[in-house]
Amino acid sequence: MQICRDLPSLRAATAALRAASRRLALVPTMGALHEGHVALVHAARGEADAVAASIFVNPLQFNASDDLARYPRDEEGDLAKLRAAGCDLVWMPPVEAMYPPGSATVIEVAGPSAGWEGDARPGHFRGVATVCCKLFLQTGAEVAAFGEKDWQQLQVVTRMAADLDIPIHILPVPTVREADGLALSSRNRFLTPEERATAPLLHRVMTEAAAAIAGGAAVPGTLAAGGARLVAAGFAPDYLALVEAETLRALDAPRADGPMRLVAAARLGTVRLLDNIPV
Ligand code: PAJ
Repeated sequence: MQICRDLPSLRAATAALRAASRRLALVPTMGALHEGHVALVHAARGEADAVAASIFVNPLQFNASDDLARYPRDEEGDLAKLRAAGCDLVWMPPVEAMYPPGSATVIEVAGPSAGWEGDARPGHFRGVATVCCKLFLQTGAEVAAFGEKDWQQLQVVTRMAADLDIPIHILPVPTVREADGLALSSRNRFLTPEERATAPLLHRVMTEAAAAIAGGAAVPGTLAAGGARLVAAGFAPDYLALVEAETLRALDAPRADGPMRLVAAARLGTVRLLDNIPV
């Protein structure tokens, strides 16, 4: 597994892979890897001959109130996991290589960036879209795997690649969960044992609300009842909403013309849990 820390060596490594006429897939990450990230590597492998992962804690997508400083880092553990997953190349640039002095260009994806995480974290999706665009162009990958766990991010990146005619296939990968339903996240390690025991209720409430809505229950009442259950259990919900799957537009009644998603974010202690499921 080759490790590249500057752009010239990345270009040389990807050119060598391409010369061997190998189709390259990219798995963008911020490190602190878990089984969810490993699932992306395996899914990417299924669509390509060679897999590159990037590890870059992107300062552009964190805002002032955000947790850049406490974002977990574990370079050795990450490299061991990527090696075990059969990754061919790891791109881990320092911040100055990604954003050299004078960098002035950002990517703004208007539609699916609006609302939800876009409201909770102003500028977040601008940072995500900008770094993903750079990663796509730096690697020249034909495929990029993204987790459904971050549904809005997946829609933002898919829209961006389509709008900018970037010749890359965005591959969605289903959310990997603990046995009790909690979606794997690098932030779960900050839950106290009591909070960890409460955390799976988020997925349970969502699953039951989705079933109720699919069964014809009124959307606003179902979501309000779900939110109240979360509050009673100690969550501070940011949102629990039914949306159009691709545009993230809120729905107060089921649509008949396309897929829907239930999206939620809720704080439990100091940890903000994020989840979504199909309806
Ligand atoms: P990060 O949070 O490290 O996540 C990297 C990828 O792993 C994302 O595509 C995310 O959706 C996916 N992922 C995380 N938890 C998952 C789970 N439980 N199941 C399946 N996939 C999961 O998301 C980012 O980094 C950054 O915003 C990035 C796209 C790298 C841009 O900086």
